[in-house]
Amino acid sequence: MIRIMITGGAGYIGSHVVKLLGQMGYDILVYDNLCTGNKWAVLYGELIQGDIGDEQLLDKIFQKFRPDVVMDFAAFIQVNESVKDPIKYYYNNTAKTLILLKSMVKNNITNFIFSSTAAVYGIPKKIPVSEEHPLDPINPYGQSKAFVEQILKDLSNATDLNYISLRYFNVAGADPEGKIGQAYKESTHLITRALKTANGEFEKLQIYGTDYPTKDGTCIRDYIYVMDLADAHILAMNYLLETKKSNIFNCGYGHGYSVREVIDIAKKVTGIDFPVEETKRREGDPPALVADSSKIKQQLNWKPKYDDLYFIIKTAWEWEKKYSHGNIR
Ligand code: UFG
Repeated sequence: MIRIMITGGAGYIGSHVVKLLGQMGYDILVYDNLCTGNKWAVLYGELIQGDIGDEQLLDKIFQKFRPDVVMDFAAFIQVNESVKDPIKYYYNNTAKTLILLKSMVKNNITNFIFSSTAAVYGIPKKIPVSEEHPLDPINPYGQSKAFVEQILKDLSNATDLNYISLRYFNVAGADPEGKIGQAYKESTHLITRALKTANGEFEKLQIYGTDYPTKDGTCIRDYIYVMDLADAHILAMNYLLETKKSNIFNCGYGHGYSVREVIDIAKKVTGIDFPVEETKRREGDPPALVADSSKIKQQLNWKPKYDDLYFIIKTAWEWEKKYSHGNIR
C-alpha cells in the first residue's frame, strides 16, 4: 500500500486531492496547521495539526509513517497579498518549505510533489506558455515558488530526492458532490468573489484593470477544474514512483477567459445580474497566463474531463450557497 503524506491537505486544493486519493484507497496522512484549512475538509486519512516549519515534528512523522510520497499544498496563494506582505510569502512558501525538504532528505523520504504556479513565468513572452519559458516572476508569490523550484533542482542533483513540480494555472470549482470547496473567507480569487457578490456578501465586484493589451482590456487566465488537477497529481505520483525522475509540468487547459467573460458566465450560472465596477489595475497581475499543456498530456497521458467553465463555476456556485449558509456536509 502506497503511503502519502499531504501537507496543506485541509486547504482548498489539498482537500480535493485527499478526497480523490482516499476514494482510491491510498494510505493517507494529512499534515496541516489549519491556518486557512479546515478539519471538516479532510474526508480521508488521519489529520495531524502541525506546521511545515516544525522540523522536530516532521522528523518524528517521517520516522513513524515513512511516506512513499509527500505532496505539498501548504502555501499562501494570493498574488496581491504577496506584493503587500512579501515576508509572509518568503517565510512560509520558501523558508518553511526548505525545512520540510531538509527533514525529508534527512529521513530519506525521496519523492516530492510540489504545488508550483504559473506565476513563476511572470509576463510570458509567448502565449500559451510552455515549461521551457524562462522564469521571471513579477510578484513575491511567484518568486517564493520559483525559489523552491531552484532548491528542488539542486537537491535532486545532490541527494536521492526526486520531485515533480506542477505549475498550476487558475484553479477553480468545487467537489461535484458538494462536500468540499473553496472555504477561505478572505479569498480574493475572481470566481469566489463574483459568486460571493451574487450571493449578497459583497456590494459589488470590481474589475481590476480594463486597459490590458488583451481582446477586451481585462486579464486572461486559464481556469482549471480542481478535480482535473487532482487527477494530474495521481498521474504525477505514478510517474515519479515508476521512473524516479524529476520533472516539471504545466497544469492548465491551454485556453483562457478574460475577467469580463468569467463575470458573464458567473451571471448566467447564478441567474443574478450582480453589480460590477471597473477600477484600476491590481499590482502584480500579468495580463495573460495560458498554459501550453501538451507536455502533461503527452508524457503523463493527462486527459482533462471538465474543460467547461460553465460547469466549473456551477460547482463553485453550488458550494458557495451551501457554505455561506453553514450547511457543510
Ligand atoms: N480579478 C478581478 N476582480 C477580483 C478578483 C480578481 O478583476 O475581485 C482579476 C485579477 O486582477 C486577475 C484575474 O481576475 O486578472 C484572476 O485573479 P485571481 O485572484 O482569481 O487569480 P490570480 O491570477 O491572481 O492568481 C491565481 C492564484 C495563484 C496562481 C495564479 C496562476 O491565486 O496562486 O492564479 O495563474 F499563481
